[in-house]
Amino acid sequence: MDGVTLVDHPLIQHKLTLMRNKGTSTKQFRELLNEIGMLICYEITRDLPLEIVDIETPLAPMKAPSLEGKKLVFAPILRAGTAFLDGMLNLVPSARVAFIGLYRDPRTLQSVEYYFKAPEDIAERLVIVMDPMLATGNSAIAAVERLKKRGVSKLRLMCLLAAPEGLRRFRAHHPDVHVWTAAIDSHLNDHGYIVPGLGDAGDRMFGTK
Ligand code: URA
Repeated sequence: MDGVTLVDHPLIQHKLTLMRNKGTSTKQFRELLNEIGMLICYEITRDLPLEIVDIETPLAPMKAPSLEGKKLVFAPILRAGTAFLDGMLNLVPSARVAFIGLYRDPRTLQSVEYYFKAPEDIAERLVIVMDPMLATGNSAIAAVERLKKRGVSKLRLMCLLAAPEGLRRFRAHHPDVHVWTAAIDSHLNDHGYIVPGLGDAGDRMFGTK
């Protein structure tokens, strides 16, 4: 699909299979999501611009590449998006974090915002929105809309699993926002769950029901 990158690295696919398995414990599920977050982050930041800076090694002066521009912002959608965060901050420790609290109304499947906290100068930065399950796409669409209202123009979306319906809806609303996902599953069921999917990611991360 146009504007979508499938991150099909064997390590990610193996870890995703462990996550899908209903026998996987809460602890293991959280650890796997954290590890996959780090691996997808590696791909999503592959084309970040570099600048050449002057440094001195113990042996000689040299011109060496260094990340250019303002620090990135990681924007997890609460709650499941936070599981990606530690792994991503391990890779990019200087990144800023914006939290976007959205819940899905179980009746309408629409997103309702209950929390938003972002760096003041977020509009000047590249923002990576994190939502492990792109199901209907409503939460990701709402989160990106909210960020665009704050003036953000450079945005990327990072998921773990996507439904084709959600991907199409997201891309139709935000054709300028590229999506990275580890898998595109078969379909959504009548309750808005991804099939075969992995169940409710938030519940499996935190042991709620
Ligand atoms: N959210 C989840 O956690 N799982 C789904 O399958 C869909 C939305």
